[in-house]
Amino acid sequence: MKNNIFKNRSLCVIDDFSLDERIYFFNKVTEFKNAWINKDKDKINSFIINDPYFKAYLVFLENSTRTKESTKNALIMHKIPFLDFDSNKSSFNKGESYLDGFNNLIGYGPNVFFVRSTIEGLCTALEDSSNKFIERHYEHNFEKPSFINCGDGKHEHPTQELLDEFSFLEYNKGSRDKIHIALIGDLLHGRTIHSKANGLKGVFNNVKIDLIAPDELKLPSNYERIMIENNFEINKYESLDEYLSHKNIAKLFYFTRLQLERMGENIRMKEKNLRKKVTLTKEHINILNSKNKDYHLFHPLPRIKNTPTIPFWVDPLKCNAYEKQSINGLYCRAVLLSLIGGRIGSDFEGRSKSIETYENEFITYINTSSSNLEKHKFKEGIKSIQTGIVIDHIAKGKSLSEIGHKLRTIEDILKINSEGGFWKTHSPDGLLKGLYFIPYLKELSYEQLKKLAALAPKCRVNYIKDHSVTKKIELNLPSKIEGYHNLECNNPNCISRSELFENVTPIFNKQTNDSFKCKFCSTNHSYDEIWKS
Ligand code: NCD
Repeated sequence: MKNNIFKNRSLCVIDDFSLDERIYFFNKVTEFKNAWINKDKDKINSFIINDPYFKAYLVFLENSTRTKESTKNALIMHKIPFLDFDSNKSSFNKGESYLDGFNNLIGYGPNVFFVRSTIEGLCTALEDSSNKFIERHYEHNFEKPSFINCGDGKHEHPTQELLDEFSFLEYNKGSRDKIHIALIGDLLHGRTIHSKANGLKGVFNNVKIDLIAPDELKLPSNYERIMIENNFEINKYESLDEYLSHKNIAKLFYFTRLQLERMGENIRMKEKNLRKKVTLTKEHINILNSKNKDYHLFHPLPRIKNTPTIPFWVDPLKCNAYEKQSINGLYCRAVLLSLIGGRIGSDFEGRSKSIETYENEFITYINTSSSNLEKHKFKEGIKSIQTGIVIDHIAKGKSLSEIGHKLRTIEDILKINSEGGFWKTHSPDGLLKGLYFIPYLKELSYEQLKKLAALAPKCRVNYIKDHSVTKKIELNLPSKIEGYHNLECNNPNCISRSELFENVTPIFNKQTNDSFKCKFCSTNHSYDEIWKS
């Protein structure tokens, strides 16, 4: 039988499902929704897991109504048992780490966790730590559970993104040609907004986004950059008043509430004024009616009852799309369960999320043929080196203090009791560079080379035997900077931050030579920013 690539999968960020996988998902949601509405029992049954041994755990460490309750209802549709973790009475309140607490829950054998938390990147960290836990307890034959991110801080909300995309497609009558959508409100903290930066890519061939928010609540540059890289057309406006005075306005409007609980005191003080700029009024509706009869309003909900950005008098109007959007949450989460439970998905054809392999990609071998060997002599003082390793070209062209810092870090990471030393020297082209020498050492491990490559890209490692260089390699910047316990992600809410004591070592994935994304919370860092910590 064909392998089902969806079974046991996690959804930590929207990009964890490829475009083809999401399109497949949307088609299945349409099938399931129609079957459910028409009570087509056979069709419904083809989606239902109905396995008493398949268990789900809901771990909501932040408040929730729609995400949690639609998930519970979807679990009931599937006739599978689930547990609702009582976070208020849990040992997390006694100072237990999340990873520690979750490990214990994994030991009770659930197949899927639905997780909401204020800490960003928790599900990604759980993916890694659960693999290790399962390995330690191999005799129990645990299946790796899926982790479904139901919102992590202001990072992402991938299941909401799935249901939003499904709802937009419904309003587009299935057409994937183009989307023109206005995103309004708290674009700074709204994780449902942030998931759209990668979420809308490809689902619609042409994406035009109007960002409507006062400066204090504007979209973080991280996400704006992703949107630009994804070829979205972006226009920015300070307020709804300003936006609606323009000619070319969207048909789809996606409102959000002001997330007061995540705001600092200085933004909260201006709340009334900020809210006014992104709250729909009767005048706005009149303008919309005069311009364009066919507009729809979306909102992930909740609305704040005394200050909703979409007022309650809008509910009976034709433009109310947020109620249908919320109902779609049930069908989407039910079909997501069918997929990760392996009930559907084996007929999927298309591109899956690519699993990248990084082996050795940062090592370039340099020719040291015998005619060249004479040129490759290294000296310690006036004596030529007999046996050992010389790392050359360290931080070439950088300042003296930077080179010094790199050399000390190298000594630290290689953890070698070196009797050699390090020097700052000039290369033939006059540039300063660092040189590090370890006598009698024959090899550096793969991990050491990878760390060295991350710290001092373009450095050269010379292996010396009988006074001659027998092997020479150049190290290039690897696709990941990992294994450094002392580095810190810039985001104070990231699961890898040392002050959270979750024991998660930061990992930065290379986007370009000067842009690295935190594996856990997606925060962007320049190369130098990473080493500042
Ligand atoms: C949102 C959330 O929690 O991210 N709501 C939701 O899940 N439907 C939006 C919000 O809290 O404002």
